[in-house]
Amino acid sequence: MEIKAIRGFNDILPDEIGKWQFVEKTAREVFEGFGFSEIRIPIIERTELFSRGIGEATDIVEKEMYTFTDKSGNSLTLRPEATASMARAYLEHQLHTFDPVAKLYCIGPMFRYERPQKGRYRQFYQIDAEVFGVDNPMVDAEVIVMLIHFLERVGLEKLELQINSLGCRKCRPRYREELKSFLTKKSFQLCEDCQRRLETNPLRIFDCKVETCQKAIADAPKVLDFIDDECQNHFGKVKEYLEAAGLTYILNPRMVRGLDYYTRTAFEVVSYQLGSQNAVTGGGRYDDLFKDIGGLDVPGIGFAIGMERLISLLPKDKEFVQYPHLFIAALGGETNREAYRLVNQLHLEGIRAELDYEGKSLKSQMRRADKLKARYVLILGEEELKKGRAVLRNMKTKSQEEIPMKDLLDTLKAKLQQFSVKINRMGDLASEG
Ligand code: HAM
Repeated sequence: MEIKAIRGFNDILPDEIGKWQFVEKTAREVFEGFGFSEIRIPIIERTELFSRGIGEATDIVEKEMYTFTDKSGNSLTLRPEATASMARAYLEHQLHTFDPVAKLYCIGPMFRYERPQKGRYRQFYQIDAEVFGVDNPMVDAEVIVMLIHFLERVGLEKLELQINSLGCRKCRPRYREELKSFLTKKSFQLCEDCQRRLETNPLRIFDCKVETCQKAIADAPKVLDFIDDECQNHFGKVKEYLEAAGLTYILNPRMVRGLDYYTRTAFEVVSYQLGSQNAVTGGGRYDDLFKDIGGLDVPGIGFAIGMERLISLLPKDKEFVQYPHLFIAALGGETNREAYRLVNQLHLEGIRAELDYEGKSLKSQMRRADKLKARYVLILGEEELKKGRAVLRNMKTKSQEEIPMKDLLDTLKAKLQQFSVKINRMGDLASEG
């Protein structure tokens, strides 16, 4: 039987990888410009980190974690998100002793046992950025400004920034009770899961997709009407700072986020081009997470971008695939040895060069060069080689010129170097005559 990838786990093939590299490279450039440093964290952690961090009564912890027992009997989990792990690393390595403020980002795969569909996978990639150690609302806005700037830099359009405040552990219990008593009256409308959520975590009912639950919650009390003065004040400042930075946002009082660690600011960036899984990014403040995982009292705020969703929104007219700069068509005998020598030399210069390994005819080599979208073909014929010359064909203009072999490397470098520079700059393969 043919072995296939697991459902919800995707291969990212060479013709798509240019987009991924472009997005990752831009994220690194933008985030580092905003003072963030990369951190790499393990893919597997102790289950407890996520159950305590994300919350026992969330969908992620209740139903979606890839949890297993290792050979020593430890319960381990493939990370469903990165925030809790980054907080653990900050505590474990006492990063606060260097500077209480840490601005960190990480890029990598996450794992959730969700029902796969367009924009929802079991292994998916996130770009995650977090600021630890500051509770000033200025940093809430700073993080959102960085996010929007990044999304614009990669070329995303028609996005909507939605914000809300979820209050804190002092004021939220009152809202929770109010919501619970409101929904208890409508509990006959709620699905089985939400009947349970009503007891364990009524805020999660906002995220339920079942129509009757959505109807039940339609005119539920709003969290913003219940948050205390300190939280109101914090939220007011976040909005002021966003406005000062020229950002427009939509206030979405129904956005509660699917993880329990959030306090105060919560935000999402959605795109209506995405269908039902429309959140490109989710994030917010989590001032109790560090305490919950057994550490210091450190506030934090951050976001995670879903890379698959972001990549599906990249401009369609932009070219991301890297084609060979040069195809070397050797025509037998000594020319093969020369092609081999040349291709190695070009690779060392960072020039993407391809050649034929099968002794094919010129016609068939030209066909392959065309299929590979090579920009130039160097034709090495025995006669020409004896005269110390080769033919260089521009595949776009179809023009050909004879080049002395001794000048070949310099000529090619001069013609192609401009390309390499452009590609290195941003994966932007500008067309060339
Ligand atoms: P999240 O909302 O669970 O937040 O995920 C963030 C983003 O990851 C989503 O907006 C979506 O684009 C993407 N995503 C989530 N699940 C899937 C999936 N199954 N398939 C494809 N994409 C998915 C968090 O993970 C928080 N850790 C974000 C955060 C960081 N909050 C504060 N700091």
